[in-house]
Amino acid sequence: MHADIVVLPGDGIGPEVATAAVAVLKSIAQLYDHDFQFQEHDIGGVAIDRHGVPLPDATTTACQQADAVLLGAVGGPKWSDPNAKVRPEQGLLAIRKALGLFANLRPVRPHGAALDASPIKPHLLAGVDIVVVRELTGGIYFGEKTRTAEAASDLCSYSVAEIERVMRSAFKLARARRGKVTSVDKANVLETSRLWRDVATRIGREEFPDVALEHQLVDSMAMHLLAKPREYDVIVTENMFGDILTDEASMLAGSLGLLPSASLGEEGKVGLYEPIHGSAPDIAGKGIANPYATILSAAMLLRHSLGLEEEAQAIERAVGAALEDKAFTADLAPPGNALSTTQATEAVLSRLGVPA
Ligand code: NAD
Ligand code: IPM
Ligand code: MN
Repeated sequence: MHADIVVLPGDGIGPEVATAAVAVLKSIAQLYDHDFQFQEHDIGGVAIDRHGVPLPDATTTACQQADAVLLGAVGGPKWSDPNAKVRPEQGLLAIRKALGLFANLRPVRPHGAALDASPIKPHLLAGVDIVVVRELTGGIYFGEKTRTAEAASDLCSYSVAEIERVMRSAFKLARARRGKVTSVDKANVLETSRLWRDVATRIGREEFPDVALEHQLVDSMAMHLLAKPREYDVIVTENMFGDILTDEASMLAGSLGLLPSASLGEEGKVGLYEPIHGSAPDIAGKGIANPYATILSAAMLLRHSLGLEEEAQAIERAVGAALEDKAFTADLAPPGNALSTTQATEAVLSRLGVPA
């Protein structure tokens, strides 16, 4: 098949991990006889430096016309002055909004070989298989922001329609998995959460009576996620809670560098794929970043945007096999035993194999 893939490398380790994922996609194209065309565009800090804005119009247009978008990461100390007028992160938020990417799927499936890297006891991790569905275009991220010398405010708001559509994504996903949705909110304090809970309950009752629904307050969820992660199937939550809980959940897998994501809108619309981690300024430029989260995001791209399930699984198997053989970057490896980003990518490429 032919597919136009827009690549947004971004900042810090973004370009390093995006290069790795593109190499894997090129290899898949060759092995399975596809024609993937890649087009790079600027976003984030690099776009501020080159164009004065974190999301140039040319980038938005290219993404809108693409079959799928692969993103590295944005941000870094160079652009992090609290009084800066433009910020790299605004570019990421703006492209999510422009593409209508309201459902951010963040799977968490700890790999047996990486259990030593997790701070959680191994017996709690066996069989953990969670997908967090994070609402991505609403909530406090997108509400009105004000700032005076004396005070600042970020407004958190959600509409019924915004909650309904992400709930449907979560319930549909659960139906194809183990049939359980945990909706996370702060309904004991926040009005938006009380609406969230009402809508979750109604959608569950009216449209997905076959799926079990439970509600959990976000503070205790943060605890349960580490204490009994096996209990969870699909977790659905609002934008900021989902952001925080998934960085926490990465510790189940052993590293932030292992968690991929798919950001999806209405069916048939372009999807964006990115690791859940950031630009990691502390290790950027050293060639030691873990590329697996981005490579696994490329697998999600093949699955969700191109319908190439077999190819997606081939990538996931190859990453699994590389992990099995302890092909670890520094975030996972014992001291002195780490592979570089390039070596870890080669470990995946060499395990892709030829399709039957
Ligand atoms: P971060 O995710 O960049 O890094 C947190 C820690 O995890 C660091 O110690 C980092 O070295 C490590 N880490 C992250 N990814 C790794 C990988 N692939 N391999 C090995 N180690 C990895 O979070 P931060 O330090 O809080 O933020 C840095 C910058 O990234 C900020 O500007 C932030 O806004 C931005 N950010 C961007 C995105 C995105 O583009 N989607 C996501 C999160 C943070
Ligand atoms: C993420 C990041 C972003 C978010 C930032 C960089 C805007 O943390 O993708 O998880 O908070 O959504
Ligand atoms: Mn985050």
